[in-house]
Amino acid sequence: MANLIIEQQKSLGEKIMVMTYSYESILKTANKVNWRIEDIINDQKSLNFNKRFLPETLARVNNISCLNESAKLFLNQIRGNSYFHIFGLAEEFVVPTVIHHVETTGLEDITASQALLHFAEEESKHINLFRRFAVDFAKGFPVHCQVIGPVEDIVKAVMQHQPLGIILVILYLEWMTQNHYLESVRDNHTDNLDPQFSSLLKHHWLEEAQHAQLDTLMVEQLVNTLDSGSINQGVEDFFTIVEFLHGGFMMQAQLDVESLSRVTGRIFSESEIQEITSVQKQSYQWTFIGSGLTNRKFLKTFEQVSPTQMERLIAVSRQYS
Ligand SMILES: [Fe+2]
Ligand SMILES: [Fe+2]
Repeated sequence: MANLIIEQQKSLGEKIMVMTYSYESILKTANKVNWRIEDIINDQKSLNFNKRFLPETLARVNNISCLNESAKLFLNQIRGNSYFHIFGLAEEFVVPTVIHHVETTGLEDITASQALLHFAEEESKHINLFRRFAVDFAKGFPVHCQVIGPVEDIVKAVMQHQPLGIILVILYLEWMTQNHYLESVRDNHTDNLDPQFSSLLKHHWLEEAQHAQLDTLMVEQLVNTLDSGSINQGVEDFFTIVEFLHGGFMMQAQLDVESLSRVTGRIFSESEIQEITSVQKQSYQWTFIGSGLTNRKFLKTFEQVSPTQMERLIAVSRQYS
């Protein structure tokens, strides 16, 4: 029963959201596309350090005038490493959020539970996959690259918020992975991208496509059980988490400049640091916030949850474009 639309009737007198996807068909697709880590990364398949990892639309290294081609390649690869780290850490708050959702909704709809637990299992696999890529990176890159953390503290800070706020963040992040692959990598013949990194983005997207639908269902299910005050609080928490993550991305941009200095052996002047960090901060904002908040499907769900906060959302997404 593909794309079955289930209307949930609630007599709370509060907002009623229509369930847009079917757990059954999502689970069916998820079982079909399911891949194994050892098929994606192994002794024969590893990162090629002669190539760029991230597309230019995400890494934005080309217009930094104080860097030569070799430094631009290094910076692009440093960004590839932070991409593993940032997605890996985001998935560490996805897993407990999904499990908590299953706990609170119960086992009445067993297909929903099966689809959601499969989702949590896939995200655990993704954490493992990103860690494998990070190990591969550390082996092949000439210097150690520092990343934001500790991850447990970041996850803890996110998890203290309302489930609706956290799931809305997860929803935009998961639609965002689709934007990254489909719009910047799949038909990219100009950036000389490493096929292994592109394979990571492709395989991640293949499973995230189901996750984003499951997130949508979780949002809809949750909203149908909350009163308007709790929905408002959840939306407020969403904006707070985005700002918190933004702070982390800005710190990562600074750490990247230090890594670049170590790998190139250059001591950058104040104005060079200024140039690199300002371009990179904008790039982080677009890659990890703007490209997700402007996703059409995310906007559609958000508007249904909180039409009165749409203007604010659009302003935030413009700020991070
Ligand atoms: Fe994932
Ligand atoms: Fe996911």
